Amino acid sequence: MNRRVARSRGALTTLGTVVTGGCAWDGPQSSLAPHSDFGWEILHVYAIVTWATVIIGVVVFSLLAWVLLRYRDRPGAPPPVQTRGHSLLEIGWTIAPALVLLIIAIPTIQVIFRTQGGAAPGALEVEVRGWQWWWEFRYPALGVVTANELHLPIGQPVVLHLEGPDVIHSFWVPPMGGKRDVVPGRHNQMWFVIDTPGVYDGQCAEFCGASHANMRIKLIAETPGEFERWVDAQKAPPGEPAGPAADGKAAYARLACVGCHAIRGVSAGVIGPDLTHVGSRRTIAAGLLANTPENLAAWLRAPERIKPGVKMPNLGLGEADARAIAAYLASLQ
Ligand code: CUA
Repeated sequence: MNRRVARSRGALTTLGTVVTGGCAWDGPQSSLAPHSDFGWEILHVYAIVTWATVIIGVVVFSLLAWVLLRYRDRPGAPPPVQTRGHSLLEIGWTIAPALVLLIIAIPTIQVIFRTQGGAAPGALEVEVRGWQWWWEFRYPALGVVTANELHLPIGQPVVLHLEGPDVIHSFWVPPMGGKRDVVPGRHNQMWFVIDTPGVYDGQCAEFCGASHANMRIKLIAETPGEFERWVDAQKAPPGEPAGPAADGKAAYARLACVGCHAIRGVSAGVIGPDLTHVGSRRTIAAGLLANTPENLAAWLRAPERIKPGVKMPNLGLGEADARAIAAYLASLQ
């Protein structure tokens, strides 16, 4: 294959990757496939801006092409006549952009007012706290506390109260709508109504330290019945473990775990995630690993290897203790 063919093939592949990459409308973290009213509102504004810029682009580049062809240098042509100022053109290209901005501003401002106001009365309230590097979700009216996996019912307004105890984070689940910062000492909120059940991925969207990229969110949108069953299961006291899990409970209570983590009726730590029903979660370590006893044991033995900078200390656990505690945590369904 000669060099020219190879080069054009390379260019085509690159172009193809860029173009088709941009076409992943329903990728796992795409804001172009909304699943809430807030998400649709944002997409609506985005579509207006996109079409406005596409039309402007077509007009400008067509004019440019026409001018380049029409006034190109021809052999023997005299030097072009110099022109100085053209009032009509100047007024035109001042008014046209102002009109475009006005056209974009009207729906933008309407959407800002519609989505930034107070939530509908009776909305389900959830307190969202961004920690280095995990998410805490508290449902004060339901008496439920969980971490990293946010369960919400569809078809009902939900309002998230965002607060940060350490540094600035940003809550972002793209199919639900825009990002919103979680700022220490400040209360931000966002609200929306989810339209489709599903598991939606999100992440922290503000650089917050070494494991910023390891601060993921799973939003689990359920029918009202499924959500109610989840709440009931979360409110139930944790079951009493048996076999190796019982040894794990003893090890958990003996070691420093109890200082940081809460398990209802067992420990009351508030520094790390509440583990009362940790066994019912799909993932551990803020979405980094599937929730299996093997992954739990690996995490307990060397959390810093999985999440750089993690605040959870390496307690130097032996294999047996790590396995027993993992069995206990997995039993907390
Ligand atoms: Cu938290 Cu980035």
